[in-house]
Amino acid sequence: MGVADKLIREAKKAREKAYAPYSKFRVGAALMTEDGSVYTGCNVENASYGATCCAERVAIFKAVSDGKRDFTAIAVMSDSHKFTFPCGICLQVMVEFKIPTVIVADRSGGTAQYKLNDLLPYAFDKIK
Ligand code: THU
Repeated sequence: MGVADKLIREAKKAREKAYAPYSKFRVGAALMTEDGSVYTGCNVENASYGATCCAERVAIFKAVSDGKRDFTAIAVMSDSHKFTFPCGICLQVMVEFKIPTVIVADRSGGTAQYKLNDLLPYAFDKIK
């Protein structure tokens, strides 16, 4: 099984863990590290809506807090018939850790791969 298929399968499993009582929109993400391990995340919502954290950031922060900083790809999927693309905040976090590839999958098995740079070509950069 290729990396994309493995990440999509893991993202799908992670989606089952979503805590989304407000939006009812479940999201799962799976992140591949350079050394071949996979970190997953689901969205975790909050009654104070702004405190919600997306699945992608949960996966990335889990990995970083475990000492990982080098990544090759992240997969994202929801229950939608359409692809679910990472939000702008998650894209900016992906830029921070230079995650090169974003894989998206829909509920019926369709997939696509994007370069992070194509999804957020003008990322914030604090170099003066
Ligand atoms: N969400 C994610 O987890 N990832 C995305 O890429 C977009 C949005 C979550 C946040 C919230 O819990 C729900 O989806 C609806 O916006």
